[in-house]
Amino acid sequence: MKQVQIHWPGGSTTTVTSGTDWLAAARDAGLAIPTGCLGGSCGACEIDVNGTTVRACIATVPASRSGTLSVELASDPYW
Ligand code: FES
Repeated sequence: MKQVQIHWPGGSTTTVTSGTDWLAAARDAGLAIPTGCLGGSCGACEIDVNGTTVRACIATVPASRSGTLSVELASDPYW
């Protein structure tokens, strides 16, 4: 387990342990990732992590070589 610094949209930064799930990490940062199925199939929860799209409900914060990750909410949350 490693500490990873996460840069959130809106400018806040939190530090979490790798392996934390993304929804919990976002909640700690005061952000709500939109969710639907919570099972990995609908895509409502997609976020971009260092430019890679992940489904937050089924993914955890990865260990980052640089120790930091930048998160963007997926470009069109209102499909
Ligand atoms: S909430 Fe449906 S894929 Fe994550």
